[in-house]
Amino acid sequence: MKLLDNKTALITGAARGIGRCMATMFADEGANVIFTDLKETDSSTALVAELRAKGVRADFLAANAADTARAAEVAEWVAKEYGRLDVLVNNAGITRDNLLLRMSADDWNAVIETNLRSVFNYTKAFAPMMLKQRSGSIINISSIVGLIGNGGQANYAAAKAGIVGFTRSMTKELGSRNIRCNAIAPGFIETPMTKQLGEEARRYWTDQIPMRRIGLDTDVARVALFLASDLAGYVSGQVICCDGGLNL
Ligand code: NAI
Repeated sequence: MKLLDNKTALITGAARGIGRCMATMFADEGANVIFTDLKETDSSTALVAELRAKGVRADFLAANAADTARAAEVAEWVAKEYGRLDVLVNNAGITRDNLLLRMSADDWNAVIETNLRSVFNYTKAFAPMMLKQRSGSIINISSIVGLIGNGGQANYAAAKAGIVGFTRSMTKELGSRNIRCNAIAPGFIETPMTKQLGEEARRYWTDQIPMRRIGLDTDVARVALFLASDLAGYVSGQVICCDGGLNL
């Protein structure tokens, strides 16, 4: 018996990075996986093939996570094709870093729309299905930046902190129907998102991390796997930092 046998999961923004890693780990544990990203690419096509080769059902849907109407269409499609959703991972996210005085309203809006509105979109779209099932696990990918702040990332920090408040509110709204809602707050994780940072920034952050190493996508995916599975059956409303101790 695998940890996610008979479960169906949807992960937003999973063509690469942490989302992709979660998709493969969930499939390895027996879950059917639907994932979204902005558009179909070689990477999304390859991931569908990789997941199906593991013997589970897998599908990709092109969907901008910030688009509320598209989220409703995705939920309708999942209801028709899969009939249920056990695990929703709100993972899609972007950065548009700048100091406040140089931050444009467009950069503010883009980050809030993609990182926070998306969480509202998909939770709202899939909540009715989970309420009917009387079960579900919602996992929202926040960031330690949402807890401790970071100069140059006011938009990102605000969105990620917003996710924490949203997560705890959903815990209270949906808990009586056996729907759990938790957040993961990753620290500095090696992905295409962080690859663009220079050597100096990487050294600076590594020195700040008590465990003295940058995190891996698998570090975060394992926490998501726990929250998705019945091992976390009585865990809700939590923000689990996965950051080598950086938040302290
Ligand atoms: P990434 O940039 O490697 O991957 C993000 C994926 O989301 C990409 O495939 C991208 O195309 C997709 N995406 C972007 N905008 C989208 C939209 N509007 N709709 C649908 N898909 C969209 O990023 P990474 O590092 O894998 O990040 C995943 C999540 O983890 C994000 O929410 C990020 O904020 C969060 N995170 C990452 C950390 C890190 O150090 N890498 C640290 C803390 C949080």
